[in-house]
Amino acid sequence: MMTIPQLTLNDGWQMPAIALGTARVRGGAAVNQFQAAIHDGYRSIDTATSYDNEGAVGEAIRRSGVPRADLFVSSKLPGKYHRYADATTAIQESLYRLGLDYFDALLIHWPLPKRDHYVEAWQAMIDAQQRGLIRSIGVSNFEPEHLDRLIQETGVTPAINQIEMHPYWNQERMLQVDRERGILTQAWSPLGRGSDVVKEPVITQLTAKYHKNPVQIILRWHHQRGVVPLPRTHNLAHQRTNLEIFDFELTTAEMAQINALTKVEGRVVAGQDPNVYEEFE
Ligand SMILES: NC(=O)c1ccc[n+]([C@@H]2O[C@H](COP(=O)([O-])OP(=O)(O)OC[C@H]3O[C@@H](n4cnc5c(N)ncnc54)[C@H](OP(=O)(O)O)[C@@H]3O)[C@@H](O)[C@H]2O)c1
Repeated sequence: MMTIPQLTLNDGWQMPAIALGTARVRGGAAVNQFQAAIHDGYRSIDTATSYDNEGAVGEAIRRSGVPRADLFVSSKLPGKYHRYADATTAIQESLYRLGLDYFDALLIHWPLPKRDHYVEAWQAMIDAQQRGLIRSIGVSNFEPEHLDRLIQETGVTPAINQIEMHPYWNQERMLQVDRERGILTQAWSPLGRGSDVVKEPVITQLTAKYHKNPVQIILRWHHQRGVVPLPRTHNLAHQRTNLEIFDFELTTAEMAQINALTKVEGRVVAGQDPNVYEEFE
């Protein structure tokens, strides 16, 4: 089994360098798949209240036999619960569904700046952290101005910012923004969610050199940028091989070639600009 490196967050906690993405898989199939992932070596699982599978994540953890302390479990607070009182109870309900007594990380799923309650949600998370319900508090889909508002109004910097990132949408600027604030970046849709990025010649040429598949090349690119990818798959063989990225190293020139695949309109779904995106759940 490949050893997964640990990265240190700005609050001192450690997080595995790759996590299991879990969107769009629920129920018994999800329990089996997540249990297989833990068996294969995943120690970090990324869920969200809006994925409707926190129950399956908790059940897979219990069936796995792996001690709770060896796992890193993250969830996300949905937009409908940004008000302070709603966020406070939503955090408790989410833990009840998982059957856990603390999160390793909880993220605000989207900033929803038009509604403008994300600072309240952040304050609820800070308070829940102080009560021991969350170790690391973070955000997802936050732009520089949203990060800076949290920091200015509460004095607490997020540990994590989970954003869309893949070679067609390399987010060089946001990565730099996060770095400057000591925030660790996680990549959602790290493989471009079924786009043709895996067929790009720049990527396929590297597969022969390193004896790795295109997905492993892309996941390694994330890792070498200091980013934690959250690949998602329904295929157990893919799930296993997606972990095998810690035994080779891309050169600086190869990293730059992959970076250069980025596009002006590279998002996997148009309209998911965090400044305007409305989360209805
Ligand atoms: N914070 C947010 O707002 C947000 C938004 C979206 C997603 N996320 C998180 O990010 C995770 C991943 O993002 P995503 O689901 O959009 O897409 P993704 O991980 O970029 O891509 C998933 C696709 O890649 C394929 N794939 C995975 N491993 C493969 C392999 N080894 N070989 C060939 N194909 C492979 C899968 O197909 P197969 O099933 O056939 O392997 C699937 O079609 C989600 O599960 C979720 O946890 C977060």
